[in-house]
Amino acid sequence: MSAPFQTLVVGGGMITADLILPSLYHLQRRGVLGEITICALGSGPLRALSDNVDIREAFPRSSFVAQPALATAPEKNHPDLFPSLIAAMPPRQLVVVAVPDQMHYSVVMQALHGNQHVLCVKPLVLKYAQALEIEREAQARGLFVGVEYHKRFDRRALVARRDYRLGRFGELVMGDAKLIEPYYYRHSNFQNWFLTANTDPFTYIGCHYVDLVYFITGLRPSEVSLAGVKRRFPNGNEGYLWSSGRVRWENGALLTVTNGLGYPDLAAGSNDQGLIMFCEGEGKTGMIRHDDHYRGVAYSYLDARGPGGSHYNYVSPDFFRLVPWAGEGLKPVGYGYDSIEAIVEAAALVEKAGADLPEKQALAARRAAAAEIDAMGIVATPANSSINELVVEAARMSILADGRPSRILYEPSGARVE
Ligand SMILES: NC(=O)c1ccc[n+]([C@@H]2O[C@H](COP(=O)([O-])OP(=O)(O)OC[C@H]3O[C@@H](n4cnc5c(N)ncnc54)[C@H](O)[C@@H]3O)[C@@H](O)[C@H]2O)c1
Repeated sequence: MSAPFQTLVVGGGMITADLILPSLYHLQRRGVLGEITICALGSGPLRALSDNVDIREAFPRSSFVAQPALATAPEKNHPDLFPSLIAAMPPRQLVVVAVPDQMHYSVVMQALHGNQHVLCVKPLVLKYAQALEIEREAQARGLFVGVEYHKRFDRRALVARRDYRLGRFGELVMGDAKLIEPYYYRHSNFQNWFLTANTDPFTYIGCHYVDLVYFITGLRPSEVSLAGVKRRFPNGNEGYLWSSGRVRWENGALLTVTNGLGYPDLAAGSNDQGLIMFCEGEGKTGMIRHDDHYRGVAYSYLDARGPGGSHYNYVSPDFFRLVPWAGEGLKPVGYGYDSIEAIVEAAALVEKAGADLPEKQALAARRAAAAEIDAMGIVATPANSSINELVVEAARMSILADGRPSRILYEPSGARVE
């Protein structure tokens, strides 16, 4: 392993609190990461992260550098702080991108221009051409970009990928995926950016299951239609808060994708999700069914401590939990943590490939290491996951045209959406 990465997280919202920061703290505890800085728009979210009781209990000795500083007035915004923080980093460290979807492109490109490896939450970007640009820029500099599609690390997805590729189900013909996030999300900072012009539930979370079907089958999507239902957030802003999508795949198969911000707060949750895939073989059919909602654990609490204030809950021990371990505090477990760990370790592997080599050989060695990770197809990279950008681009075009289908064409000159 090369020297521990100095890490800058841009974005201090929900995903940083729920997944990224605890995962990074554990990697820091393991010696993989060095100092961690978190930059948010203002000090408010950083104060909330620093005071987060679950994180403090799990990592009693860990801390991050807040940018802007915690003492700064919380109502003051600092939208232009992160570029100077990237510019001040030593080269070839790590930038974690956890800002709203429509900002990913600009932050990722600034990180690459600043010679930093990148971990970006999904979706990487909203345009296919941007994903290609990111891929080229990273390759030119021998840097690694990993996209945090954590469902790829769910053990059930890994089992299904292997079995599907061994021909044990036949070929996908019809599927149905669903991911409905809780109603209470409508009260969060989402009100300020989850607007009709920026994103929609399919782009936000439907992409997880589209990526998963691609991850399991290797099939490429060829057509997307997406219709949405507009609703107002509590602050009056309008967003698509429900969406219904249909993806056709290159073999003619169809996948419907239902998404929304509306799972009842008081229902056993925190959300509702799952995937069913029907496949055809010779003279019989096969099936993959993942119940990603009820994973076999149900708790009824004395108080209303469930997400959304519920008592009775379906608890997923699979995605992300902080659990007792043979060490101080608590340790993160689950495919959310596995995914972050895999991306950070991939970046470290690429970095290490060039360590102690003259510049030209180091670049070649790092490119070769990154290409190997691309080809393996487990950790999502711009090269092996940009079907998602094609789908998101097609989906945004479709939803803004009231569900008119958009086609994805794979031509010798490259792929494009029309
Ligand atoms: N399941 C998943 O993989 C998953 C889940 C949730 C969110 N996400 C993704 O994570 C991203 C962030 O989502 P979230 O839920 O944390 O949103 P959020 O609204 O809770 O947080 C966004 C953060 O970005 C910060 N920010 C905005 N502009 C900034 C700027 N100019 N400089 C620095 N910081 C800035 C805000 O201060 C805030 O802390 C989105 O792209 C979302 O799609 C992924």
